[in-house]
Amino acid sequence: MIIGLIGFGKVSQNLLKLIESEDIEFATSLEGRSDDTRRRIENSKIRILDSFKDVAAESDILISATSPKSSLEVAGLYGKYCKGIYLDLNNISPETTLQITEHVDNLVDGAIIGKIDSKNPILYISGKSSDELLFLDEFIPTKKVSDDVGDAARLKMLRSTYTKTLSALLIESQSLARGQGLEDEFFEILSLTEGDDFKEKSVSRINNTLNSSKRKSEELEEIIDYFENEDLTMVRAALKKISR
Ligand SMILES: NC(=O)c1ccc[n+]([C@@H]2O[C@H](COP(=O)([O-])OP(=O)(O)OC[C@H]3O[C@@H](n4cnc5c(N)ncnc54)[C@H](OP(=O)(O)O)[C@@H]3O)[C@@H](O)[C@H]2O)c1
Repeated sequence: MIIGLIGFGKVSQNLLKLIESEDIEFATSLEGRSDDTRRRIENSKIRILDSFKDVAAESDILISATSPKSSLEVAGLYGKYCKGIYLDLNNISPETTLQITEHVDNLVDGAIIGKIDSKNPILYISGKSSDELLFLDEFIPTKKVSDDVGDAARLKMLRSTYTKTLSALLIESQSLARGQGLEDEFFEILSLTEGDDFKEKSVSRINNTLNSSKRKSEELEEIIDYFENEDLTMVRAALKKISR
């Protein structure tokens, strides 16, 4: 089996490490790529083809892991050459996922929960052909959401509704507690009900949000756009807080 990779950054590199099997060969191309990406590809054990068109045509599974912005363009350029399954792993909205179906016959919508290089990332997939990708569970925990393309993206968005809004609340509560000189006690008392690792997880969540507040704000804006007719009082407040 050939797995083709479009995009060779953190996600693809880690997939290459995780999916180790004599029956699977990975392929990609250097076409149009930056020096960094070319170096990463040349230092990896992966077959290099002349073009991404060739990669798409030769792959049984074609994985797009480029960037949210380029996902639709990449699908438009190479989706038509893919005769196998096209797995999109970009962090994109359910709307973009549906737009991709206009260019790709056999789309599976994938959402990686947790960073791909974290201890236990999980891959959620949806779409009619997802069953054919369940063998990936042998290498990375893989769960099928449904037969409907877009459900994995929607599920990830619902998760973000909770986690990103919670992060904003944590930032506010931690700052309040610090101002009162009770930060350690604040985390200690919450750990009693929220679990022993509450402080560690909260601090990581807070730092992560503060370090990429622009991206987090954009993701909250996307949620608000997508669920425009729903009551999103808390999400809107989180956006206001994180945008400051
Ligand atoms: N990292 C994670 O844990 C994680 C988790 C969930 C979802 N995702 C999603 O997965 C995708 C990839 O993430 P990443 O962390 O691997 O990104 P990354 O490290 O920034 O790597 C992106 C790769 O895609 C390539 N690329 C960009 N545009 C391309 C195009 N038009 N054609 C071909 N290659 C292109 C880049 O090449 P150049 O250097 O040449 O531009 C680079 O090799 C993103 O959409 C992200 O939202 C990531």
